[in-house]
Amino acid sequence: MAIQLLEAMSREGFEEVVALHDRRSGLRAFLAIHDSTQGPAFGGLRRWTYLDEDQALRDCLRLSRAMTYKCALAGLPAGGAKLVILDRAELDLAAAYRAIGTFVERLAGRFYTGPDVGTDAEELAWVAEETRFVTRPDAQGPGLLAESTCAGVFAGIASCLRHLDGEEDWRRRTIVVQGLGAVGRGLARLLLEAGAEVRASELDPEKAERVAGELELELVDPASEYDQACDVFAPCALGGILHDLTLTRLRCRIVAGGANNVLVRSLHGERLHQRGVLYAPDFAINSGGLIRGALFHLEGRRESVENVGARIGEALGGILARARAEGLAPVRVAVDEAAARIARWRGESPTKA
Ligand code: NAI
Ligand code: PHE
Repeated sequence: MAIQLLEAMSREGFEEVVALHDRRSGLRAFLAIHDSTQGPAFGGLRRWTYLDEDQALRDCLRLSRAMTYKCALAGLPAGGAKLVILDRAELDLAAAYRAIGTFVERLAGRFYTGPDVGTDAEELAWVAEETRFVTRPDAQGPGLLAESTCAGVFAGIASCLRHLDGEEDWRRRTIVVQGLGAVGRGLARLLLEAGAEVRASELDPEKAERVAGELELELVDPASEYDQACDVFAPCALGGILHDLTLTRLRCRIVAGGANNVLVRSLHGERLHQRGVLYAPDFAINSGGLIRGALFHLEGRRESVENVGARIGEALGGILARARAEGLAPVRVAVDEAAARIARWRGESPTKA
């Protein structure tokens, strides 16, 4: 069923949704700004081949809202947004990203964009030709964005292990990483350096072989990662992967990774909890790049990657402790905490965020 846009916006408190079209480059994109009550809205640029506009718009809305939750839990004076580009063969990439830069500049700082699936340093350099409001992963911006995300996910996994077993004991752990892009590859590297056994899946066969050779890790077939017996399953690809059909296949004790919107619905996090699987809420564990980027733009400083990791590990530890004390799923605690903070920003009752 086609999305009822205004209905969805009012139900979930979105501020603005814009459809973008650029005749010259063939750009077709959506921007959703979920919340800017505390400060500018931050959201990466996702380029993906969507089935249709409806799917792209839904992804944009969900990702944008998740960014607000991320900002709230990380205690940043910022809100959430997302820009998704509908990828297709006829797109002139450089011109499309420049057109986005022009559009972002017109928003005059209400929205900062940055990396996400399909968009990294090269694409962001095109955006940066036209706007100041872009979070670059290279030395001309805060730098080390994916590294900060990976440090946060790594520290978050360590928190989960300590929560269950009282120690990390990396040498006895097996972690299965889904997706070997900027985040998955960096996370796999940190885990291997710590002494863990790492297996990984990657849809792109050429990338899979290249990264597996570089890091000396074992590959597993895409879609077989759910069935692997392991300590931790780390989703680092697209969202919407854990639902009724996949979560019953999992043979891990912990799900903790860098991907956004891992759960189809938050009730799937409750189901994981009922099945005895510890799920680290994605918006609590993958905010490293956002934290580094937002502090750079809003406070003019580069927070160290180590501090970003430590901050996320500690915050997640707090969520897990509260969940245990209250007998709740960690996702419930994290959603409630983020929603309460957002409601306070907006002067609303907590159920509205
Ligand atoms: P990327 O585009 O560099 O890598 C994603 C990789 O996943 C690609 O190599 C793709 O082929 C692979 N993939 C897609 N579906 C797959 C599947 N079903 N099985 C196995 N492999 C699959 O993207 P990036 O930047 O690494 O992002 C990954 C996730 O992390 C996304 O959900 C993104 O939103 C999230 N994220 C990214 C941040 C960043 O700074 N890049 C920050 C925070 C979250
Ligand atoms: N896209 C990333 C996220 O999901 C990171 C990011 C976005 C970083 C915008 C800076 C600015 O968190």
